[in-house]
Parts: sequence; C-alpha cells; structure tokens
Amino acid sequence: MNHIQEYWTESSENYSKVIDREYLGDEHEAWKKFILSEIGEGELNILDIGTGPGFFPLILSSDKRKVTGIDLTEAMVEQAREKLKKNNVDAQILAMDCQNTGFEDETFDVIICRNLVWTLSDPKKAYKEWYRLLKKGGRLLVFDGLWYGYIFFADLKEQHAKRKAYVEEKYNAKVTPYGDPIEFKRDFDLMKTLFLSDKRRPDWDRQYLTELGYTVEKIKDEYLDEIIGREERDKRGNISPLFFIKAKK
Ligand SMILES: C[S@@+](CC[C@H](N)C(=O)[O-])C[C@H]1O[C@@H](n2cnc3c(N)ncnc32)[C@H](O)[C@@H]1O
Repeated sequence: MNHIQEYWTESSENYSKVIDREYLGDEHEAWKKFILSEIGEGELNILDIGTGPGFFPLILSSDKRKVTGIDLTEAMVEQAREKLKKNNVDAQILAMDCQNTGFEDETFDVIICRNLVWTLSDPKKAYKEWYRLLKKGGRLLVFDGLWYGYIFFADLKEQHAKRKAYVEEKYNAKVTPYGDPIEFKRDFDLMKTLFLSDKRRPDWDRQYLTELGYTVEKIKDEYLDEIIGREERDKRGNISPLFFIKAKK
C-alpha cells in the first residue's frame, strides 16, 4: 500500500459518515441539480473518479445514466459498494488507479471527480489518461479546492486568516487546519509529497488541460455557495477556496 492509499484507508470510515450526512439530507438534491444542469438529462455513460464512499454513483445513477465509480483504495471501494447496496442503487465500483486505467479509448460521455485531483501523485498523467477515455465531445467535470493555498501564497494567507476569524467568531465553527505541521501532522506529511500542493489552481489546470487538447468551457470559483450556500459553508468552517472546471474533449 502506498502512502496515499494508507491516508485514505485510515480516513475511509469517517469519510463514509460525511457522505451519509450529504446523502440523507436535502443536500444531495442540490448537487444533482447542479450536475445535471451541466451534463443534461440524456443517456450517458459516466465515470466517477476517486469515488470514495460513492456519493456521485448514489445520486447520479438512473435508468438512463450508467455510472461507474473507481477508487485506488480498497477500503473506500468497500464503503461505496456497501452504501449502494444499502440504498438499492445499481452502479459498478472498481478498485483502480485513475492514472492508468484498463478502460478502452473513448468509453465515457462524462468523467466527473470531486476533491480528487489535489491528492494525485501524477495529475498530469491522470488528465492525459482521462482525455483518452472520453468520447469526442465528452465532458470532464472537476470539483476541487486549494486546501494548502494559504500556506504557499500571501494573498490566500490573508484571505484565510480573515475568513477563519469571521467563522470562528460568528458561528463558533472549527476550521480544519489543512497542512498544519502540529495540529494535522498526517495531512502535513501528505501535503509535502503531492505535486499540486504548491500550485496556483485552477490556473494550473486550465493551462495543462488546454495543452492536452481539452477546451476549458467554464471555471467557477466558490461553486459550493450555489449548492449549499455560503452561510452553511461558514457554519461548517469550510473556508478553503473551491473551484469547478468544465472541459470538453
Ligand atoms: C477526498 S476523497 C473524495 C471522495 C469522493 N470523490 C467524494 O467527494 O466524496 C479522495 C479519494 O480519491 C481516491 N484516490 C486517490 N488517488 C487515487 C488514484 N490515483 N486513483 C483513484 N482514486 C484515487 C482516494 O482513495 C479517496 O477515496
């Protein structure tokens, strides 16, 4: 098991509880609406990369939409399969490294991933592999965030300090100390090994996706404000800059 798999194996049970909260409340309807407004309601073959406990297969699978979820971590694959079974949702979950999959060329209409790209050992290889897997005209949807941006960039450090003080005072919220060497040592150790930790995103993604031949159609900052609202994010101490990218092959 490599260090990324170890990290996610240890996180799998807690992560699964977070997904239960998202799936059991109203929140998943807002996610579904957001995604369907981007990909349409037609027949689609969808690949969810780094599916974790299977949130996207749970909310997107239907008679018209075939969803396959893949994940590098066996413990996450088990969580996802269990959750789908418990909720009577039919979707395939496979253990696989998204940087080197066994799928045929041009298999999928849509490739989607949430909070995955930042944790890849080789995101360049991944974006290239996904280009191969997409059908012509297919769409890539990336939801991600700059968890460590405040450690590497002065403007993000200032923004982070302001938002942290605000949510702590107004909501008594606890902000997750991503990359903190003392409070979150395990995360700090992971951060040091990841290619994207000190990259300015989504600028890095836009440039690399374009080099590969994707057309970047949309980049939306703070997309989660549209889904759960800024107030709810603040109450959860969710203050990292977030972004959504939509690109076409
Ligand atoms: C932050 S979790 C996100 C889970 C899910 N997408 C969600 O938003 O609920 C990141 C997931 O990416 C998976 N992952 C990390 N590297 C991967 C790789 N190379 N290939 C496939 N999955 C990977 C981890 O095992 C973990 O389940």
